[in-house]
Amino acid sequence: MLEPFPTSAAVDDGELSLGGIAASALAAEYGTPLVVYCEETLLASARAYQRAAPDALVAYSVKAFPSVALLRLFGAEGLGADVSTLGELEYATRADIPGERIVVHGNNKSGKELDAAARAGAGLVVLDSLDEVERAAAAGLRRVLVRVTPGIEADTHAAIRTAHHGSKFGLPPEQALQAIGEARASGLEPAGLHVHIGSQLLDTQAARTSVDWLAGFAADCRAELDWAPEVVDLGGGLGIQYVDDEKPPAIEDFVAALRERLEHEWRLHGLSPPRIVLEPGRSLVGRAGVTLYRVGVVKQASETLTYVAVDGGMSDNPRPQLYGARYTAVLANRAGDGADGSYAVCGKHCESGDVLIERVRLPRPRRDDVLAVPGTGAYTLGMGSNYNGVPRPGAVLVNGGRARLIRRRETVDDLLAFEA
Ligand code: LLP
Repeated sequence: MLEPFPTSAAVDDGELSLGGIAASALAAEYGTPLVVYCEETLLASARAYQRAAPDALVAYSVKAFPSVALLRLFGAEGLGADVSTLGELEYATRADIPGERIVVHGNNKSGKELDAAARAGAGLVVLDSLDEVERAAAAGLRRVLVRVTPGIEADTHAAIRTAHHGSKFGLPPEQALQAIGEARASGLEPAGLHVHIGSQLLDTQAARTSVDWLAGFAADCRAELDWAPEVVDLGGGLGIQYVDDEKPPAIEDFVAALRERLEHEWRLHGLSPPRIVLEPGRSLVGRAGVTLYRVGVVKQASETLTYVAVDGGMSDNPRPQLYGARYTAVLANRAGDGADGSYAVCGKHCESGDVLIERVRLPRPRRDDVLAVPGTGAYTLGMGSNYNGVPRPGAVLVNGGRARLIRRRETVDDLLAFEA
């Protein structure tokens, strides 16, 4: 039952606890909805990446959850940051991530973003279009990667595939070659190649295929341009377990599979081994987060369907609507009670589609119970909205019986502050 929950999750006296604190106590103190991050799980994931690839740069993909506190935690572990906007770059610099550990992305970088990347001393800027070559050189940038799209269809939701033929990201191989040539001519230092094939990958198949493809492409670069990548950035993509039937590889196994394949393929083509960059987002923070909601209305809508309405929904987690994402849940304050039936968990927003979980087995929920939904550490709060004038939740970091607020809950006054 606790599989998708953070490592510190436990059930004591029928109560779910996270980081040594009863979930119901966290809900009472900080209010709901609340995203609870387990520090132990965050550190374990970061360390698993560092152990699996000690020579690589592991750059946390800030989009998964932009948070100065989390970035500080990761920074102290030696991780860097992958940012794709001015805002994400600001989170990384506020958290004192050293410039050389910052990788700057974006399929449509503004002049301001290129200038800010130069000011931050970003170690790598990833070129995503041909016109970016001149603009990056003019902004005073030096070390760049070229993002290439291998034409691989990763086995994941179509909205989070990025390396297929016709992707809006990166450059098709011919243009990538041209970008490398032009980058050299314009005084940039093309250090290597970038590929990111998609997110929530539940096996290593597509990632390994992309490494094979990349090795072939690197050999083409050498033949055509007398240039080979010193750096290979394999992006992010490793999935997490949201529900029982998903079994993603462990971080160590995923990274080992990529490294082995890369070393093998590079050797086969007689290329010198490159420095690896990885950009995990979800697999670093996803499992660490649990959203706590307060149960309100419990309504039998038909003979077979009973809704449990919670005090959040698509404004704090749009993933079910966007990607058909599935979640599970437990009643935190009655975690020892047996399930008596299946329930649909819906949000409070004015849309029939605002359903967080279509079916989950629970003890019959009652008003004021605390419902805990695991696996919400990535792409939930960061993708949240204020739909229906709902302020977004706060977030706390828990460890060893202590909790620390890392993001305060929004208020209705915050929303009204935007009124001109
Ligand atoms: N690097 C690049 C260039 C990316 O575009 C992404 C994610 C990552 C790294 C991190 O990928 P991860 O390790 O988290 O899979 N909102 C969607 C996921 C969008 C991913 C976008 N790019 C979701 O909720 O499933």
